Amino acid sequence: MSARGRDRRVYLRSHPVLFALLAATRHRRALRIGSTVLVHDREAYRTALTRVPLDRTAEGTTGGAAGELAGRGALFDQHGEDHRDTRRDTADLLGAAGVARLRPVWTALLDARLPALAAGGRLDVVPLAAEIAGTTAAALLDLGVDPLDLASAAQEAAAAAARAHLPGPGRRRATRSAEAHAARLLDLVAPARRDEAGLAAMLAVAAVNTTVAAIPRAVAWACDAGLWEHASSPALADELLRVTAPTPLLPRVAAADAEVGGCPVRAGDRMLLIARHAAGAHRDDPCPSNPAPPPTSQLVFGAGPHACPGARLARTQLADVLAALAPYRPAVTRARADRRAALPSWRSLAVRATTQPTPRVGGPHHPTAGPGLGVGQAGRPSSSTGAPASTTRTAPLPAPRRPAEGRERRAGER
Ligand code: HEM
Repeated sequence: MSARGRDRRVYLRSHPVLFALLAATRHRRALRIGSTVLVHDREAYRTALTRVPLDRTAEGTTGGAAGELAGRGALFDQHGEDHRDTRRDTADLLGAAGVARLRPVWTALLDARLPALAAGGRLDVVPLAAEIAGTTAAALLDLGVDPLDLASAAQEAAAAAARAHLPGPGRRRATRSAEAHAARLLDLVAPARRDEAGLAAMLAVAAVNTTVAAIPRAVAWACDAGLWEHASSPALADELLRVTAPTPLLPRVAAADAEVGGCPVRAGDRMLLIARHAAGAHRDDPCPSNPAPPPTSQLVFGAGPHACPGARLARTQLADVLAALAPYRPAVTRARADRRAALPSWRSLAVRATTQPTPRVGGPHHPTAGPGLGVGQAGRPSSSTGAPASTTRTAPLPAPRRPAEGRERRAGER
């Protein structure tokens, strides 16, 4: 199966009509359908995010959903000085030094989990991504909670919030379910930062859902397109993030009249900003030897004052995952799309090794750990931090268990 053909399944299984509509209209820079303006074009997307005043708390937008889920003051819903102050606080956590501090968290997990691929074993990349996401979010927020509980609570809260916005008869029940899931997440994050539980909950949601969507889709694409030989280049992670565009649509509402891509926009109009098309994900396959220029690949993380503060973390983490998997030259053996996730995602992605890394005596297994390791990934500096990955372990890791047990129970509904 082609990499693009397989990846398309995550959209088509969850939102077939919406993505068919977007594909059918993508030759237009921007177009109005009722009170919604679809924005496909790169410059128009940038204009909408940087020049059009946005109503950050309107219903159906990311900021509105953040407020409903976690209360006000969670970045997405903030403006001006309040927003700048909160960004300053999170910049320390997610800047170069913050990412370098967090990095041993996921390199230790990779060291512990990837040997499952030895001797013909299989690895499901989705639970691995959830474990990486939950452990990283718990470390970021300084929480002593079970990382898989945190990952599952953040995934359930986002999925329930998305369902509550769908029209139809089950909306009241969906709203109650969204409130219950938000309360569970707030309970998990509140003990450490009681005064900032809303922001902590939103950081957990933003980090976990994007990571669980992004890592397995990027790994599947690297497997299917045979891109492993590029895993020593930071461009591979950047290109895979560009073509998978993990948050493909940004729902926003204009707060003033404007023009976007030649289309007049009125205050109160809904805008659907198509990150996937702005970044050329639908058109240009990933090419690590001739990657898209950074201003284009960056668009999957938004633009302007609200651009994703977690981009450095996401890129570094994905680059480490790809570098650690590359010596096994994995291939996909089974993939199932997740129809209920908040973002287009795999529900399960099983891979197996097609080769084994050269064994190394007396050192950590992780191929980014230091010089002299198998298949040419040794000591690769990170794309974002410039520092080699560390495999420092603070404590032995427990055996893996399936994350999101509630989701497991719903398997029969798919
Ligand atoms: C592949 C992974 C990720 C993708 C594709 C992604 C994408 C995005 C996008 C498109 C936005 C909206 C930007 C805008 O409105 O201009 C955003 C905002 C945000 N992201 Fe990410 N993100 C990712 C990972 C993360 C991670 C790991 C974290 C936290 C650790 C994070 C935290 C946030 C926060 C807090 C905001 C709101 C920023 C604000 O409104 O000022 N993201 N992200």
